[in-house]
Amino acid sequence: MARLRALSVLITLFLAVFAVTSSAVALDSRAPRCKELCITRCNRVTAGQAGTPGQTLRSAAVAKGKYFGAAVSPNLFATAAYANALKKEYGWLTPGNAMKRDATEPAQGQFRFTDADAVLKQAQANGQMIRGHTLVWHSQLPAWVPNTAGTDIAKARAIMTNHSENSFPGQLAHWDVCNEVLNEDGTFRQSFWFNAWGGRRYVAEAFRLARAADPTVKLYINDFNVESPNGAKTNGFFNIVSSPIDGVGFQAHFISGQIPDIAATLKRFATLGVEVAITEPPPEQTQATNYAAVTNACKSVAVCVGVTVWGVEDTDSWVPHLLLDANYQKKASYTYTLNALNA
Ligand SMILES: *[C@@H]1O[C@H](CO)[C@@H](O)[C@H](O)[C@H]1NC(C)=O
Repeated sequence: MARLRALSVLITLFLAVFAVTSSAVALDSRAPRCKELCITRCNRVTAGQAGTPGQTLRSAAVAKGKYFGAAVSPNLFATAAYANALKKEYGWLTPGNAMKRDATEPAQGQFRFTDADAVLKQAQANGQMIRGHTLVWHSQLPAWVPNTAGTDIAKARAIMTNHSENSFPGQLAHWDVCNEVLNEDGTFRQSFWFNAWGGRRYVAEAFRLARAADPTVKLYINDFNVESPNGAKTNGFFNIVSSPIDGVGFQAHFISGQIPDIAATLKRFATLGVEVAITEPPPEQTQATNYAAVTNACKSVAVCVGVTVWGVEDTDSWVPHLLLDANYQKKASYTYTLNALNA
């Protein structure tokens, strides 16, 4: 009897060990990126600590309860002036291209994370946080995706699921789950995703999958030309924001017309119970004061968590309207931004 009990204890022990090992294997097969890194959990405080308080964008933003970030290009990490500016001025990093579909899954099921992992490691080394960009977008979508799925919702869903699971669980603070889903009139863009689902339901599905892949990341929807308070596109954007969307990103490219009253727009979206962020200036217009305008808008809204500029220096952008010139010298736009943060 005692021997039987010992045997059953042994079997239970064996099963327990087996269960632990096999669940570890199951986690591995989802390929969480850079498991050894601790970014989101570890860098919340350090993200704002570079430099003398108020003397850098990074520290000045944190003094006002915000972050200041930049879109980054991993091929420039080896350039000392770039790496120094990045570390000093920006508390948050957004991979400019490194986490897009064409970079990360160039062929079906063949994941390539070299550049994405370089961004994660850069953030780890400099105590920075990451805005992931982007899971579902109509652009930079490799041809195999529409070619494989066509309008077959089951195939499209499998592709979307695979990609969300093989992403960056635990490493991103924010994640642009859906990017640029609207037309200029506020209706849904007829993208591959829209057509595969036969309508807008792909957006809810993407957010559901992203939440399943990473229970702690803040899930964002992001778009451009949605900054004017009552524009048709802004109204369309306002109408699609609901749970489980945590945050709304305003790109602030300001392609046409005057700078809109973006503070009013941010306040309007805040009523939805989400946080908001300015995610992709430069504006296409050249005035340095535009940077002060978007920075002040974010400062004036409690739930605006930060500003990310799309590039570190002028040659690393589609329009040369960044804060540092090609020689990493501070431009007037830098001074306007820093002064707005410190005011
Ligand atoms: C999912 O990714 C795996 C590799 O991790 C691949 O073998 C499989 O074909 C992919 N499935 C889909 C539907 O893309």
